[in-house]
Amino acid sequence: MKHPRKIIIDTDPGQDDAVAILLALASPELQVLGLTAVAGNVPLALTQINARKVCELAGRTEIPVFAGCDAPLRRKLVTAEYVHGKTGLDGIPLPDPTMPLQPAHAVDVLIDTLRREPPGSVTLCPLGPLTNIATAFTRAPDIVPRVAEIVLMGGGCFEGGNVTPAAEFNIYVDPEAADIVFRSGVPLVVMPLDVTHKALTSRDWVEGMRSLGTPVGQAVASWTDFFERFDTAKYGSQGAPLHDPTVIAYLLDPALFTGRHINVEIETGSELTLGMTVADWWRVTDRTPNALFMGGVDREGFYRLLTERLGRL
Ligand code: RIB
Ligand code: CA
Repeated sequence: MKHPRKIIIDTDPGQDDAVAILLALASPELQVLGLTAVAGNVPLALTQINARKVCELAGRTEIPVFAGCDAPLRRKLVTAEYVHGKTGLDGIPLPDPTMPLQPAHAVDVLIDTLRREPPGSVTLCPLGPLTNIATAFTRAPDIVPRVAEIVLMGGGCFEGGNVTPAAEFNIYVDPEAADIVFRSGVPLVVMPLDVTHKALTSRDWVEGMRSLGTPVGQAVASWTDFFERFDTAKYGSQGAPLHDPTVIAYLLDPALFTGRHINVEIETGSELTLGMTVADWWRVTDRTPNALFMGGVDREGFYRLLTERLGRL
C-alpha cells in the first residue's frame, strides 16, 4: 500500500466534525498528524474538549490535540449552540477526556509541522472557521507553498447561506480569515452547502449506525438524532446534512464528488453579504480559478463509505 496521506484536521466539534474525525481515524489511507481545535460551533474551551472526547471514543488517545484561536481575526465570535447544543456535542453524554490537551498552540503546530514535513506532503482539512489557518499563513508565509492542498467544508453557491441568506457558518464567523486562505494560492477543494445539503442522513442509515451496537455507532446515531432536529425544522428536510465528513470522504474517494475549478472570492466588506463565497460557477469573470468547488455528491456511495469505515471502530 502506498504511504498514508498526512493530514491535519482543523476543527470546531460539532457533531458533524466528530463524524468526520471518526471517519479519518478509521481510514488507514490517512495519517492524522493531529487535531487543531478552533472556536466556532462552540467556544474553544469546548471544541478542544470535544476533539479529545472523539479521539477517546475511537480509542485513539495517541492523536495529539491542540487548542488554537479562541476568536476570529477581527470580529466577535459567533457560535451555533442552537444547532449543536450547549456542549457542542449534544446527544449521547461522553465522559470528560482523560487524554491531555497538548501544550503547544495550534498555530505554532501548523507552522512547525509544515516546516518539518517535506513540502507538498501535508494536507490541511479545515472543518470550521479558518482562523487558525489564516493566522499561521500570516505569521509564517514560508509555509504556504509547502501545503499540499486544503480540503475544507465551507461556503455555498446555488444553496445560498445557512447563517445569513448569503453566508455559510464557517466562512461567516471569520470572513477575513477565509479571504486570506482563498487568496493564498494553495490548491483548494471546497465542500459547500451545495454538496452537503445533498448528503442528508436517512432514518435507515441512523438506525443502521445504532444497530452496530458499538460505542461509535451509538454516538453517531445519537449525535445525528440531535443534530437533525434543527435542519428538519428549518428546511422541512428529512435527515441531517453531514457537512464535515464530506471533506474526509473526498480524500478517500474523490470520485464521489463532482465540481468545477473556478474562481471563489470572499465578501468581507458588505454587512448584507458578509462571508459570502462569490463562486464564479458560470465563469462570467476573468478572475483566476483558485478552487475546485464541489456541486454534486454520490449520496449512496458516501453513506456506504461512512457505514463501512465507522463499522471498523
Ligand atoms: O455550516 C456548516 C459548518 O459549520 C459545519 O462545519 C459545522 O460543523 C459548522 O462548523
Ligand atoms: Ca465544523
